[in-house]
Amino acid sequence: MYPIVWSKGKYLHKDSLMFPLEERGLQFGDGVYEVIRVYRGDMYLLDEHIDRLYRSLESIRITLNFTPEEVKGALKNIVERNKVDEDAFIYLQVTRGSAARDHLFPENVEPNIYAYVKRKKRPIELLEKGVKAITLKDERWDNCYIKSLNLLPNVLAKQLAADRGAFEAILHRDNVVTEGSSSNIFLVKDDVIYTHPESKYILSGCVRSRVIHFANELGINVREEPFHVSDIEKADEMFLTSSTSEIMAIVQVNDMTIGEGKPGEITRRLQKEYEKDAAIVQEEVSR
Ligand code: PDD
Repeated sequence: MYPIVWSKGKYLHKDSLMFPLEERGLQFGDGVYEVIRVYRGDMYLLDEHIDRLYRSLESIRITLNFTPEEVKGALKNIVERNKVDEDAFIYLQVTRGSAARDHLFPENVEPNIYAYVKRKKRPIELLEKGVKAITLKDERWDNCYIKSLNLLPNVLAKQLAADRGAFEAILHRDNVVTEGSSSNIFLVKDDVIYTHPESKYILSGCVRSRVIHFANELGINVREEPFHVSDIEKADEMFLTSSTSEIMAIVQVNDMTIGEGKPGEITRRLQKEYEKDAAIVQEEVSR
């Protein structure tokens, strides 16, 4: 982790940032977060992440005493002050604040906000080869559009996937695929891309929106329509998207091979668009 972090208007050393035990994020998961990708010191899709942060905050009735511009400025400052010039991510968290433990909202308590930057290389090998996924019942609550700190079902799903040698768990409600434990899920059939529509059952991913934009630019048909677990065996291609995984082919689901068992044509075209959009050049040269 880079040493300079931002919290509540102050730039501090990471080891000097302290929160009391009675902190609403720690005790109730009463908060929201964002993970923002940084490529060679440039934040990718910053406006989209900050817009979603404020939507999440509004949904859980937290009023932040910083404007979106102030938060963006603070993130730019920690990138600059830490002299971040490589691939990294920013973790940004807001909670309802520190107060004596009580389920009710505390009065006159200001939210806790902090952000730090951490180095993170692109997952080049996985992007080139694709990953395995498992299907799993979506056991989360009904408000998955909020990027809530309550990630227990996501954590359990991701761990179960890893226990079974897979990278991601594809979640479904009544056999309708919603999203992954930490990603959005796409299926390609007969040159049409399908993904669950924006609704309370999925997080509106920043990369998801960008992928839909890329597909439109490339003239590839996208249908934001739900698909079923049973459609997976007929899929030509599948991929997942997230700020840390980018656009990653899913080449196996449970025991089924998807397409030819390697990233398909449409997935690769979208990956190229992503690299251009995020101005990722150095890895292409070294490949
Ligand atoms: N997660 N759906 C869920 C449940 C997620 O947790 C994420 C991202 C996404 C993709 O969103 P985006 O494209 O905006 O990154 C979809 C982040 C990376 C995380 O929790 O670490």
